[in-house]
Amino acid sequence: MKDINFKTVFNDIFIELQPLENKGVAASYIPELAKIEPDKLGIHLVHIDKGNFYQGDSQERFSIQSISKVFSLTLAMRILGGELWSRVGVEPSGTAFNSLIQLEVENGIPRNPFINAGAIVICDVLMSYLDDPKADLLNFVRKIANNQSLQYNEKVAESEKLTSDRNKALIYLMRDFGNIHNDVDEVLDLYFYLCSIEMNCCELAHSFMFLVSGGVDLTTGEMIVNPSQAKRINAVMQLCGFYDEAGEFAFKVGLPGKSGVGGGIVALHPGKYAVAVWSPRLNKKGNSYMGMKVLELLTTKMEDSIF
Ligand code: DON
Repeated sequence: MKDINFKTVFNDIFIELQPLENKGVAASYIPELAKIEPDKLGIHLVHIDKGNFYQGDSQERFSIQSISKVFSLTLAMRILGGELWSRVGVEPSGTAFNSLIQLEVENGIPRNPFINAGAIVICDVLMSYLDDPKADLLNFVRKIANNQSLQYNEKVAESEKLTSDRNKALIYLMRDFGNIHNDVDEVLDLYFYLCSIEMNCCELAHSFMFLVSGGVDLTTGEMIVNPSQAKRINAVMQLCGFYDEAGEFAFKVGLPGKSGVGGGIVALHPGKYAVAVWSPRLNKKGNSYMGMKVLELLTTKMEDSIF
């Protein structure tokens, strides 16, 4: 990597993007998300040696949505280890995040833990092993983020419950195949709360640093996952973090990452840095339109991706 002045790079990116039309549309299928001001743009990068760099609306919390599926996967891997992979696969789906098509053909085993079906199975696993799943999951996220103030947004979770026909279709189909072991409403409730966690770009970038450092929480020194598990989570992010746009993200950005329909994207370079961007307008695949562009410009200007 060149000797980078991140502040200058961020400035250049924001200037370069200014005249571009944002062709994205903020998610409105969850009514609460439709209320967000769509033209926010923030970025925060934490470098393992060089510290913190940020620009724009990086301190404002937003709904991290599917980004939190990385946290639920991490917790399930801690609990079940390798056994987890009999319930969910690690292959890219090449389909939309809420697609039903493969599930029927593949006997109720979701392709990966980041499509909705896979994240719902992960929630089912958490329901089976945690005493108080909702509280324990939030506490785990607070722990890896080193931030006790993180919260679910109940309004977002409730709003999602009201528009959940597709997620219900997914869970009932999987239950028919024997891949859901708990009460469907309780599993979905946990899933909706998982999606409703709020963070800002700074909090998000910091909460992914354990995947930059081979599984170790850099603040406490505690091992969150072992290096092999960290490698696997990063690999699944690389291949499945952007649904049917995972190839495009690897092609343009060249980092493992995860997106959410709230307009957030986290990406990381193992051994170096984690970066979070937020811009609510989404492209047709449900990933942040400007977020993708910011990260493409970032790795291009830095001349530094994992490839
Ligand atoms: O299940 C849903 O529809 C959402 N709460 C999760 C969506 C999400 O963020 C998928 N990602 N891009």
